[in-house]
Amino acid sequence: MQTASRSGPDSSPASARTPAPSRTGRLPARLLRAAAVFWFVVTALGQLVFATYVAGLYGRATVSGHPELWNKVMPHGYVAGETFFNLVLGLHLTFAFVITVGGLLQLVPAIRRTLPAFHRWTGRAYLATAAIMSVGGLVMVWGRGAAGDLPQHVAISLNALLILTCAAIAWRHARARRLDLHRRWALRLFLAVSGVWFFRVGLMFWIVVNQGPAGFDADSFSGPALTVLAFAVYAIVPLALLEFYLRAQRSRRTVVQYAAAAGIAAATLVTGVGVAAATALMWLPHL
Ligand code: HEM
Repeated sequence: MQTASRSGPDSSPASARTPAPSRTGRLPARLLRAAAVFWFVVTALGQLVFATYVAGLYGRATVSGHPELWNKVMPHGYVAGETFFNLVLGLHLTFAFVITVGGLLQLVPAIRRTLPAFHRWTGRAYLATAAIMSVGGLVMVWGRGAAGDLPQHVAISLNALLILTCAAIAWRHARARRLDLHRRWALRLFLAVSGVWFFRVGLMFWIVVNQGPAGFDADSFSGPALTVLAFAVYAIVPLALLEFYLRAQRSRRTVVQYAAAAGIAAATLVTGVGVAAATALMWLPHL
């Protein structure tokens, strides 16, 4: 989600024609902006921990020449002799780090403002990485098999298609200098790319609030709770919340802005609990 720079009705051409809003009138817009910044800070911290885990576990194993250590976490990891799939997975893991850190850099308004050439080049690299990871992910899921059951495989494949679609549209708008549209599609792309991160954070939130694996079988990693979670985080909830946020930014109805701010704040609390649990139980133990 866009953080500070362009949010709020103050920046729209329509508001330039209307009288300045009262102090109370500006409050919902300020709350909306604060909720978005709050969400971004929690998400950025959580994604940085995830990137550190990826570098610490997979990067260290690869650099030390022990790719079999990838299998400490993955059931479908390194397989001796399967050169093609090992290579696809190795690229996937390397790019997982690049795309996570790169996505966060793209969203920082100060970097876009002060280093536009850097934003353009990292943006191109981000788009290419997103495309390579999605296609590589599809190859692994359908060519070799992956953790989880068929509904989860369908959900993550939908996520890959969303990433490819958002990347293509964001790129076209950037080339045509339609910057407002580019910004919207880049935000959608960021959330689609973050789907795998949301899945891990959502899973740990679910396990913590239920004090165990409720609604799914931990051994086969399948069950209704995981099906719902997968479709929710890969394709529905983050994108729906973003649309609400974008509409609220343009809306003059304070109730819409309050509701969007409350929705984002609630999502941030869920994310924060999930990040804390994932960090403690999933990521830190492997560093
Ligand atoms: C674009 C953002 C993505 C990131 C940052 C990412 C990151 C990762 C990471 C870190 C792992 C290692 C497992 C772990 O330690 O948690 C992994 C494995 C894997 N990823 Fe991705 N991934 C992304 C997208 C995708 C997509 C879109 C697909 C499928 C279409 C996919 C399919 C896989 C598969 C099959 C594995 C092997 C492990 C398994 O059996 O599930 N990934 N990914």
